[in-house]
Amino acid sequence: MEFDDVIMGRRSIRGYLNKPVPRELIEEVLTLAMRAPSSMNTQPWNFHVITGDPLDRIRAGNTERNLAGVPHSREFRTGHAFEGVHRERQVGVAKQLFAAQGIARDDKDARLDWVLRGFRQFDAPVCVIITYDKELADSDDTPFDCGAVTTALVNAAWSRGLGCVINSQGIMQSPVVREHAGIPDDQVIMKAVALGWPDDSFPANAVVSERKSVEEATRWVGFD
Ligand SMILES: Cc1cc2nc3c(=O)[nH]c(=O)nc-3n(C[C@H](O)[C@H](O)[C@H](O)COP(=O)(O)O)c2cc1C
Repeated sequence: MEFDDVIMGRRSIRGYLNKPVPRELIEEVLTLAMRAPSSMNTQPWNFHVITGDPLDRIRAGNTERNLAGVPHSREFRTGHAFEGVHRERQVGVAKQLFAAQGIARDDKDARLDWVLRGFRQFDAPVCVIITYDKELADSDDTPFDCGAVTTALVNAAWSRGLGCVINSQGIMQSPVVREHAGIPDDQVIMKAVALGWPDDSFPANAVVSERKSVEEATRWVGFD
């Protein structure tokens, strides 16, 4: 696949085929992803690639605890609720996804179903938990580097016909993930990535989210 096709074609995948992903292919994707740059080449990232029974236990634990109203225990700062233009963009993509799935604004059951899907890692056959070395937790470069490798991962996966969705929903209950994935104490859980073969019949998979323009995002200095 051409680079432009990967970048422009990739989108988050939230519906997967019930078909395993070979470990060798995931290794290939990780090898590509790990060419990502990092601060001073520290490469603070680690990947916990989970499938089968352990992943099912994580899905069940996440779902039970979230339904029981257990407050989230993510291991990173989540910030305040979005406002203004950020809130508009958040609502914008949610509207696109709900419209694609035919979920009405007042359909509480369907909305809950959608949220639970996230807690189950979108029923993907594989989940990659991205962690970083706790020793580097006091530098903002560390989450920046994790973002770089994770973006490279989802693009590398796409180039091989695999779909992903980066998500925080899967790690809202971090003790569940720690226990069933056996995450060592010297690592901090940063993000989850659901991974698998896209189900082309799942409507939300076709959603192309919007972007602000280059003009909006960019100032040119010294060009004229
Ligand atoms: C840090 C981060 C956290 C995210 N968390 C979630 C999540 O919890 N649930 C979800 O459905 N999508 C999640 N996403 C996916 C975003 O909604 C998605 O990337 C964005 O809307 C742009 O759409 P696209 O990936 O299809 O281009 C997350 C993405 C990132 C980068």
